[in-house]
Formats: sequence, structure tokens, C-alpha cells
Amino acid sequence: MTGRFISFEGGDGSGKTTQIRKLAERIRQAGGDVVVTREPGGTDLGLKIRQALLHGEDLSPRTEALLYSADRAHHMATVVRPALERSATVITDRFMDSSIAYQGGARGLGIDTITKLNRWAVEDLVPDMTILLDLDPVIGAQRVGAKKDRLESAGDAFHAEVRQTFLDLAAKEPDRFVVVDASRTPEEISADIGTAYDRLR
Ligand SMILES: Nc1ncnc2c1ncn2[C@@H]1O[C@H](COP(=O)(O)OP(=O)(O)O)[C@@H](O)[C@H]1O
Ligand SMILES: [Mg+2]
Repeated sequence: MTGRFISFEGGDGSGKTTQIRKLAERIRQAGGDVVVTREPGGTDLGLKIRQALLHGEDLSPRTEALLYSADRAHHMATVVRPALERSATVITDRFMDSSIAYQGGARGLGIDTITKLNRWAVEDLVPDMTILLDLDPVIGAQRVGAKKDRLESAGDAFHAEVRQTFLDLAAKEPDRFVVVDASRTPEEISADIGTAYDRLR
């Protein structure tokens, strides 16, 4: 049997890094083999792509979408699939739903187009469970403070569109998505995530 594949999604400051650390710790304490990774930048090539995406020159929306999907294809082939094949649990900080929300929704490239591009990039390997940390992006921005990368500096309407697209995706795939109210305390949030994880196994 292959391992479980879990993605965390949500805007910046929604608590993905915080909650992934907690879930990974919980799995490790139970003796599980867990790989924590992220997109973009889960590989050496991915780090270069991440640098270009988040801190480089202005990119057209299509360029941006292709770079994210290139990072994802490489990450899937070299990190995620091998770990799942040895039955590890893989937790990724962002996955294809981020591309669908940011490039498909907020950048206006189209949900279907970006979904198809990414399904192709990952050869249809979709997470077993996606935790969506839902939070007002204004609060998320307050949590992360002043230091913003290229996408974080996009406007309020952009981030509102990202949030709404994530929620729409979750409504379309209720079996895969777990929507968590991320405005609460880290402990309340991790309790919900723990319950969802226990159901998955
Ligand atoms: N539930 C929470 N309530 C308040 N602050 C939080 C919460 N979860 C995380 N934080 C803080 O908000 C900031 C962003 O959290 P982080 O986990 O890095 O989010 P993300 O990875 O989604 O950008 C960090 O400073 C973190 O300590
Ligand atoms: Mg983070």
C-alpha cells in the first residue's frame, strides 16, 4: 500500500507552516514515517524556480503558471512519488489547488485550464486529503507582517479572489477537502486537523 498524501492550502499567514509542523510531530510520535515538503521549492531545481517566482522580475500570468507546474512536476517525480511508494506519509505545504486559486482564479487564467495543466504535470496524483486553512487575507497579512514577496504584495481584491476560489474548490470536492476556520487558536485548529487525519487512516 502506498502512503497517504496530504496537502495544506490557504493564503499566506493562514498557519500552514505552523499546522504542518504539529501534524508531522503527531505522526512521528505515533511511529510514522513522514516527509514534509513544500511548493514551490521542494527540490534543488524548485528552489531556483521559487526564487524566480517570488523574488525575480515581473512574469506574465502564463509564465507564472508554467513555472509553478514545472516545479510541481519535478517535485512529484523526485520527492512525493518515491516517498509514497515506500509508504511514507507526505505532507506538502501548498499543491495544485494553490495554482488553481492564484493563477486560475485570481490571475484569471481559468480554473479548468490550470486544473488540466496541473493534472498533466502530476500525472493525476491528487492528495488523499487537503486541509484548507480558511482565513480573511487581511488577518493573514497582519500575521506575517511587513516583509512581502511578489505574490504577497498583490492587492486585497486579488487575495479575496484567491480565498473564494479555494472555498469553491472545497465545495466541489467535499470528500478530499477539509475546510478549517483558521482564525482560531493554533490548538483549536490542530485539534480539528488531528480529527480529520484520524478519519483518513
Ligand atoms: N492560529 C493562529 N493564530 C494567530 N497567529 C498564528 C496562528 N497560526 C500561526 N500564527 C502565526 O502567524 C504567522 C504565520 O503563520 P504560518 O504558520 O507561517 O502561516 P503560513 O505558513 O500559512 O504563511 C506566524 O508568525 C505564526 O506564528
Ligand atoms: Mg508558510
